Amino acid sequence: MAKNIAVIGAQWGDEGKGKVIDYLAGKADVVVRAQGGSNAGHTVVIEGKKYALHLVPSGILNKNAKNIIGNGVVFDPEGFFDELRKLEDDGIETKGKIFLSDRAHIVFSYHKKLDALAENARGTENIGTTLKGIGPCYMDKIERSGLRICDMEDISDFRTKLSAQIDAKNEIITKLYKEEPLDKEEILIKYIEYAERLKPYVCDTSVMLHEAMLDQKTVLFEGAQGTMLDLDLGTYPYVTSSHPVSGGFPVGSGIGEGRIEEVVGITKAYTTRVGEGPFVTELLDETGGLIRERGNEYGATTGRPRRCGWFDSVVVRYSARVNGTTATALMLLDVLDVFPEIHVCYAYEHKGKIIENFPASLKTLQECTPVYKTVKGWETDISGCRTWEELPEQTKVYIKEIETLTGIPVKIVSVGPRRDQTIIREEIIS
Ligand code: GDP
Ligand code: IMO
Ligand code: MG
Repeated sequence: MAKNIAVIGAQWGDEGKGKVIDYLAGKADVVVRAQGGSNAGHTVVIEGKKYALHLVPSGILNKNAKNIIGNGVVFDPEGFFDELRKLEDDGIETKGKIFLSDRAHIVFSYHKKLDALAENARGTENIGTTLKGIGPCYMDKIERSGLRICDMEDISDFRTKLSAQIDAKNEIITKLYKEEPLDKEEILIKYIEYAERLKPYVCDTSVMLHEAMLDQKTVLFEGAQGTMLDLDLGTYPYVTSSHPVSGGFPVGSGIGEGRIEEVVGITKAYTTRVGEGPFVTELLDETGGLIRERGNEYGATTGRPRRCGWFDSVVVRYSARVNGTTATALMLLDVLDVFPEIHVCYAYEHKGKIIENFPASLKTLQECTPVYKTVKGWETDISGCRTWEELPEQTKVYIKEIETLTGIPVKIVSVGPRRDQTIIREEIIS
């Protein structure tokens, strides 16, 4: 059994990564976030209480796991301290359990402002971002003008660098977008204060991870977003600005390629997407509405209703290939309890031709229609099932169909949001 396990979103995010990480973290020593930022919304439900995690890894709700925010994350100090306060208000111990990479880039208030201005300027072509400043922060990183956590060490230096950045962004805000400039002094004061408050969390997390691995510790890599939101491999430009695929972990956490032994694809038993962009199996009818209501499909970060549709094996097969997925965790299966018939898309039809591999072109995607197989529903409440044997035969047929169509074994089945509503078909952690 594996020691270093990656958990990735196999679809468009919100597949239930938080729940699985929390579940597996009970046996893990370290949980690592390696990309994205506070655009993530990972829900964990423990004893009826709901926790929404954004920047803090979902291992925080377990007593023993150490939680790393790796170098690939874009770190928003404001969001981070808000989140910490909420966790502490809920009686969750966070002291000494969170470690922040000194190489992580910092999200500033101007990144959030620029996110909103760019979305507005896109008009009807908008991406539907979470407005957390993710894209603009990664833009600075790629452009090599971003500020990192290690830049906060020397305050006078930090002040100079940040000042120059605020001036540069104010040029864009006033000249390009014709808006009022941001208050420079206010930003400087705020972030210099954060620099002080962050000190206890900062370290070289790559060294920490390396040592944990040498000590044979169990490490969980917590993906954020999902494969189809990957900057390179997703439905560009309707994507996020990072690499949610498994390949994002080595770079985003500073470990060698090849260290990850198991890649668990967190996969909804149907499909959802929040924000704009192509979605071949989307249901704009009552069935889509029923999935939304039963799955409580409203964003954990923005509260937006999620678009819903049937399971798309073209997407999940693609995801299995680009992530090297070794196991599927099939989530929210209970949501389908009421349907007499369930449809599974096994291919797309494009201009009379069958397509089995997810196409790159958005134009092609928009012209694709789903080709469905119909599986009989089980029409039974499965939320109380705790073992594979207890699942209705018809539910097993559906799961096996998904295994056949995606080529990946389903090792975990989730039948409700709570920790105990989890069926382990095959253990993942030793
Ligand atoms: P993440 O971003 O991948 O961590 O997923 P989210 O937390 O954004 O969305 C998943 C939602 O589904 C959350 O509200 C979870 O509490 C909920 N959830 C997770 N697993 C199950 C399940 O098996 N059944 C049901 N009904 N809800 C689930
Ligand atoms: P978790 O980790 C679902 C989507 C946004 C938008 C696009 C770009 O909870 O699964 P961004 O703010 O990242 O620039 O927005 O990506 N998006 C997510 N959708 N789950 C997420 O995270 C997401 N994070 C970003 O809705 O379409
Ligand atoms: Mg989410």
